[in-house]
Amino acid sequence: MKDLFAKIYKDKGPLGKWAEQAEGYFVFPKLEGQISNRMKFQGKEVVTWSINDYLGLANHPEVRKVDAEAAAEYGSAYPMGARMMSGHTELHEQLQNELAAFVSKEAAYLLNFGYQGIMSTIDALVAKDDIIVYDVDAHACIIDGVRLHMGKRFTYKHNDVESLEKNLERATKMAEQTGGGILVISEGVFGMRGEQGRLKEIVALKKKFNFRLLVDDAHGFGTLGKTGAGAGEEQGVQDDIDVYFATFAKSLASTGAFIAGDKEIMDYLKYNLRSQMFAKSLQMQLVVGALKRLDMLRTMPELKQNLWKIVDALQSGLKDRGFDIGTTQSCVTPVYLNGSIPEAMALVRDLRENYGVFCSIVVYPVIPKGLILLRMIPTATHTLQDVSDTLDAFDAIRTRLENGTYKRMSAALMKAMGE
Ligand SMILES: Cc1ncc(COP(=O)(O)O)c(C=O)c1O
Repeated sequence: MKDLFAKIYKDKGPLGKWAEQAEGYFVFPKLEGQISNRMKFQGKEVVTWSINDYLGLANHPEVRKVDAEAAAEYGSAYPMGARMMSGHTELHEQLQNELAAFVSKEAAYLLNFGYQGIMSTIDALVAKDDIIVYDVDAHACIIDGVRLHMGKRFTYKHNDVESLEKNLERATKMAEQTGGGILVISEGVFGMRGEQGRLKEIVALKKKFNFRLLVDDAHGFGTLGKTGAGAGEEQGVQDDIDVYFATFAKSLASTGAFIAGDKEIMDYLKYNLRSQMFAKSLQMQLVVGALKRLDMLRTMPELKQNLWKIVDALQSGLKDRGFDIGTTQSCVTPVYLNGSIPEAMALVRDLRENYGVFCSIVVYPVIPKGLILLRMIPTATHTLQDVSDTLDAFDAIRTRLENGTYKRMSAALMKAMGE
């Protein structure tokens, strides 16, 4: 019989095999200093485009003050226990009520982490005879949530409403046999490439098919819509989203998440979300901190305006210089280049070391082979100077990529990797 670990010793996985070359630099990098537009990486200042602090709240003095006061008052333990047992408080309820009002829903329920929370939400919403239809490019937490489902599931082509319709036809036939219902899951904004989920068109299909819609709006919450209530508000279909999900880990620059919808559905989830029922309640300092952040979101529209000033400058600057930024319809700013993984490594090293620009790099298997995706997250703390420095840097690295500089630099590495 094989040792359980045998496969691990042999194969580190598609990303893990690069650990020796990549760790500490391309993956698991250590960014130091206060969270802002400029941080330190390996002792050097870099313009930081890889932090989801969209509204610049992470290090806002008012936020820091409230966080510090809440930590002093409550410590990091309070309240102890799960919500259902001994971890429930007035302030948890207040935050839920304020979140629900903000996203125009009857009720909301807090989640300790978005990832586990949405998994449990999916798990609780569907029974064995129900069918899930979800976007093939869904975030890992949705995929893991679907994995918990004991019944049938279909994927539809990424953001492709025709494909969704076809799969809804199949799902409807199947549901008629099983006697179950249908859950459709989309993201409000797809975080890798920045397109908005086609919520308006998805919602229009409700006229033809009987389904409920769950939207993961991690990147839309706080950044899209007139009030910042997200992709549903932006597309005018918030009322038709049956279960709305967002995390505090992006615009609110914290930890925690929530779901929102009709009161009866939230009441049901409150008693059936396993990752909340059997896990310690969200700490009070995070609850107090979220109340403060939400208040700022509501009362300081200039935060979102500042964010979009930077987004517009960055995205239009890239387009004007002929960069391919795909089909983004949000703050998420991808730049697509052609090259191998070793070339991508040399390019990113150059960008960081010689141009002081830090952004995330995404390569195969997350995107197709031969493509390099540099992913930038603009924030309200960036300046127009950051944008112009970055555009100049991108021009320079594109020239070097095209004239083969990175290919030569990476040749030795490619040989070593047997590529
Ligand atoms: C689309 C999406 N959904 C869910 C999550 C998970 O949220 P959390 O970080 O609160 O666990 C993330 C990552 O933060 C995300 O990008």
